[in-house]
Amino acid sequence: MCGIVGYIGNNAVAEELINGLKNLEYRGYDSAGVALNDNKNIDIFKAKGKLCNLCDVLNLHQKDLQNSTGGIGHIRWATHGSPTVENAHPHCSADGKLVLVHNGIIENYKELREELVKEGFAFVSQTDTETAVHLIDRTYRQTHSLEEAVLNAVKRLKGAFAFCIMHKDEPDKIIAVRKNAPLIVGLGDNENFIASDIPAVIGKVKKIIYLDDAEMAIVSKNKVEIKNFNGQLLDKKAELISFSAETISKRGYKHFMLKEICEQPDIIRNILAQRMSDVNNQIQLPQVNWNEILKKSKVEIIACGTSLHAAMVAKYFMEDLLGIPVHVEAASEYIYRKTVTDENTLTIGISQSGETADTITAVKQAQDKNAHILILTNRPDSSIVRYADSLIPLEAGIEVSVAATKSYTAQLISLYLLTLAWAERKESLTVRLQKLKQELLEIPAKLEEILSNENCIKKCSELFQKYKSFIYIARGINLPTAMEGALKLKEISYINASGYAAGELKHGPIALLDENMPVLAVLIPGTPTYDKILSNCEEAKARQAHLIAVTSSHDEHLNTIFDEIIQIPFSDEVFSPVLANVPLQLLAYHIADNLGREVDQPRNLAKSVTVE
Ligand code: F6R
Repeated sequence: MCGIVGYIGNNAVAEELINGLKNLEYRGYDSAGVALNDNKNIDIFKAKGKLCNLCDVLNLHQKDLQNSTGGIGHIRWATHGSPTVENAHPHCSADGKLVLVHNGIIENYKELREELVKEGFAFVSQTDTETAVHLIDRTYRQTHSLEEAVLNAVKRLKGAFAFCIMHKDEPDKIIAVRKNAPLIVGLGDNENFIASDIPAVIGKVKKIIYLDDAEMAIVSKNKVEIKNFNGQLLDKKAELISFSAETISKRGYKHFMLKEICEQPDIIRNILAQRMSDVNNQIQLPQVNWNEILKKSKVEIIACGTSLHAAMVAKYFMEDLLGIPVHVEAASEYIYRKTVTDENTLTIGISQSGETADTITAVKQAQDKNAHILILTNRPDSSIVRYADSLIPLEAGIEVSVAATKSYTAQLISLYLLTLAWAERKESLTVRLQKLKQELLEIPAKLEEILSNENCIKKCSELFQKYKSFIYIARGINLPTAMEGALKLKEISYINASGYAAGELKHGPIALLDENMPVLAVLIPGTPTYDKILSNCEEAKARQAHLIAVTSSHDEHLNTIFDEIIQIPFSDEVFSPVLANVPLQLLAYHIADNLGREVDQPRNLAKSVTVE
């Protein structure tokens, strides 16, 4: 959560910072702020709410901004202290000379604050961040060296932090430090950038340096030095940015979410082309250590939110195709109990961002218990990767919309590939395996068919947008599909929605049913539970609920039960979660859009949840 940027160079500093922050808005949008240094003074501008509010403030001060040569900026997802202007970053020392922006949480801020208050430091915000400012300022007053003051202070801080720091008396530099929160330095010509994530510098620089934990960058216009927390100079290699500016543009779509939904067929086609040339060749996952994985007798998958739903789907087909036990758990639960993880366990951590604090902690705990760690992430440059013994990059491209869509589909495809690759290395399932591999290759075309039906889903959204609450039902491998569909609707439209196992409806939730509670059912024909779900839908209809089906069945009888039928192409049940999910993404999208919601930036959310 929170995004930070820094810029030092000859361009208009405020503009560079705002451009960077715009591309980090997925990290938070409770408040925004910048500090601009013109070699004489440091001026701070802040605003509550979205970045556009800060732009308004800056426009009012346009004439004061001309001479800036460096600056730092921040967008906030509030943790400590409500989203007010006082709590917005940058924070500064009492004399206004030292300014700092922070991403992360300083866990020992209370004791540090007490210590500093006793010494006479006055706090003006409720944030944990302000302790860091005063701590650095305290040493600076003695040493008059920003570098020394920062190194001294970071040794006292517990928790996670990425900082950008400037001092009025050292106007030629910005200092950036990192511990358990991502940070990169973008290398330009006569200018340099600092940012929480690559999108902030795409199109600005070609090369970046990834800071590792316990590292500090001293960034000037013409020079970047990287040191460790002992002050020793490090020789870090710069890496080329592989993303183009295209990846972070809407390309004519109204929202990033819709663009990302529509990208799914091409993404899957690319993944399959990389991993699977044809059904007769072995699936290639080059960063997976099969020697280790083939020895494992049990699997546990840890993730959060949408990634957890992908894990839940995987449990069904992994147990089915591999015959080994698969345990799935929310990372936030896993980390607070005694697990039976051991050296016979393959622990799979799934995280789109690779920065989710709960998932990182859980994976670390599993590693401490000698499990083999396989990471699935869309960001092979992220923090979680440092715990990976094996890795599957998701290759979904940068996902900008806060609601996860294409990364979920890419997670499912990667989990299918892992399972099929494992099965073929165990030399089991030969006939079924060939058939499944063939069907996997057909998925992109089937997704295209679903997307071509968008107008029908839009029409359905118009009929159903008036409801205040929804129930999504399914069984077996599509229970997580129902849960994911409900989550998508909830998070972007703010309509209450719950995903239930259809068989559980009669054990309680049926009490909710009436004409105001629509039921959406995912029904896959040819499965043992198809008729059972149909009966559950009849029961809902008998209680006046309005019903939507997402199904590959063409059974005429469905017209007598359902108000709307959203058709998906037929597939083996194993792959039905990928297909059934896309209409649910579109339904949630159109309902939210019809209601005028901020689809790409839903309230209270942020894309990387870097706090527990
Ligand atoms: C929902 C959503 C979240 C994330 C969750 C985990 O649309 O995006 O539920 O799935 O915060 O994030 P990652 O996968 O980055 O660990």
